[in-house]
Amino acid sequence: MVGAGISTPSGIPDFRSPGSGLYSNLLQYNIPYPEAIFELEFFFHNPKPFFTLAKQLYPGNYRPNITHYFFRLLHDKGLLLRLYTQNIDGLERVSGIPVSKLVEAHGTFASATCTVCRRSFPEKDWWADVMMDRVPCCPVCAGIVKPDIVFFGEPLPERFLLHVLDFPMADLLLILGTSLEVEPFASLSEAVGASVPRLLINRDLVGTFAWRPRSRDVVQLGDVVHSVERLVELLGWTKELQDLVQRETRKA
Ligand code: APR
Repeated sequence: MVGAGISTPSGIPDFRSPGSGLYSNLLQYNIPYPEAIFELEFFFHNPKPFFTLAKQLYPGNYRPNITHYFFRLLHDKGLLLRLYTQNIDGLERVSGIPVSKLVEAHGTFASATCTVCRRSFPEKDWWADVMMDRVPCCPVCAGIVKPDIVFFGEPLPERFLLHVLDFPMADLLLILGTSLEVEPFASLSEAVGASVPRLLINRDLVGTFAWRPRSRDVVQLGDVVHSVERLVELLGWTKELQDLVQRETRKA
C-alpha cells in the first residue's frame, strides 16, 4: 500500500506534509478550501484549478525513484502479489510494474471520461488541451472531459475490489509513504490476517500503527529512500536494484 510520500523523492509534492504538501500550496488556485480541487461540485463550478494542477502533475515531467523500482524488483522476483497505490502520478507504471499487478485506487491520468455523454478518451486525445491551459471538451457533445481521477465522493475503480481476494492471501503487508487518512483505502491496513507482519515505512507514525499496533508490526520512521535502501541492503539486493535503476534510466 503506497501514497504520495513515495513520490516526493521524484519531486512531486505530497498532500499533507506541513508547508510542502499540496494542500498547503493551493492559494494560487483561488479555491475555497484545499480538498475542493478534487470535488465534483467545485469542478463543475470551475474546472480550471484542477486542470492547472493536472498540468503541474503531468506524468511525463517526473521519473520513478528507488522506491518505485523496489516494488518493480519485488515483482521481477515473483514476490509482489499486488501494489495498491493512492497516487495519480502513474510512476508505478513508468517503473515497469505491469498494470495487472497494480490497483490505482484513486484513478489515473491514463484515460478520461466525458462528464456528459460518458465517452472514454485515451490521454493522447486531451493532454494537449491541458498543456495549453484549455479545458478539454468532448468532440461529440461538448461536455467537459475529466481525467479518470477519483474525486471525493466518487466510487473507486472496480479493480479496488481485488482487495477482497488479495489481502486475505497476503503473507506480508508493506505500507509506504501515506498518512492513512483517506478511506476506504486506509482501512486496507486492517485487512490482512492477525498473524501477518505489517511493515510501515514513513516519515511519521500513522493510522493504526499509532493507536492500535499489532504484535508483529514493524515501523521504520524517516526518509522513505533511506529506509528502502536500508531494507534492500538487508535483503542483499543492493546491486540488483542499482542495475535495474540504471537499465530503466538508460531506457528512458
Ligand atoms: N519519506 C518518508 N515519508 C514521507 C516522505 C518521504 N520522503 N514524503 C512524505 N512522506 C509522508 C508524509 O509524512 C505523510 O505521512 O508520506 C505521507 C503522505 O501523506 P499524504 O500527503 O496525506 O498523502 P496520501 O496518504 O497519499 O494521501 C491520500 O488523500 O487527498 C487525497 O486523493 C488524495 O490519494 C490522496 C489521499
